Amino acid sequence: MKKIVCNTYEDVCRFAADIFAQQIKDKPDSILGLATGSTPIGLYNELIRRSEAGEIDFSAARTFNLDEYFPIKASHPQSYKSFMEKHLFSKVKFANTRIFNGEAANPHAECAAYDAEIEAAGGIDLQLLGIGVNGHIAFIEPDTSYPLGSYLVNLAEDTLEANSRFFTDGEEQPVTALSTGLSTIFRARHLIMLVSGTNKVEIIKKLFEGMIHTDIPASLLHLHPNVTVIMDKAANGE
Ligand code: GLP
Repeated sequence: MKKIVCNTYEDVCRFAADIFAQQIKDKPDSILGLATGSTPIGLYNELIRRSEAGEIDFSAARTFNLDEYFPIKASHPQSYKSFMEKHLFSKVKFANTRIFNGEAANPHAECAAYDAEIEAAGGIDLQLLGIGVNGHIAFIEPDTSYPLGSYLVNLAEDTLEANSRFFTDGEEQPVTALSTGLSTIFRARHLIMLVSGTNKVEIIKKLFEGMIHTDIPASLLHLHPNVTVIMDKAANGE
């Protein structure tokens, strides 16, 4: 696991955008794994800027998102579908974009279909990740055992609390979600995790103490051969 510490959040976003740009240059029809949360927004803005400037052409690339609340209407302002439309897809043209269907009649069938589509695409070339304050990646919450494939997750208390800031009064916050499983994440050829801000200091310290903790999903990534964690000084406790 490679650790890159940048001076500022803006530097984190530019560093990550360079990795995306190189990926698309090397393989225009890349399969990209995308993430939500506050942290990737700056990266998406930078990708929009470069795409509008004609510096990157995503039109042959396909994307799969890591997760989605369940159940949630696609049109709900806090669905990850809405998030992606607002922050990236309405401004950058991809060959195809795919997010778990938060309205699926059968969530388990939706998970199986999702995994099959990623498999058929040949797996993820470049996977973007964030990290939850409890060490979750995607919505793989701390546990003692984990399904290999995508699954319906009960969201942890700390995750619900951390994400409650997005839901306004009266908006019901889903307590479950559909998440990509470890198998898809581990088969991704390159993983980049973006981390920003002082609320991640504790989890980052734990992540880099040189241990695998079964109840910290992000620490399992030490077993992946190609992970780059890009953080700002704030997240590194500087
Ligand atoms: C959500 C997402 C994760 C993301 C996490 C951290 O829980 N499911 O994929 O990494 O939020 O988000 P933030 O970047 O807002 O701290």
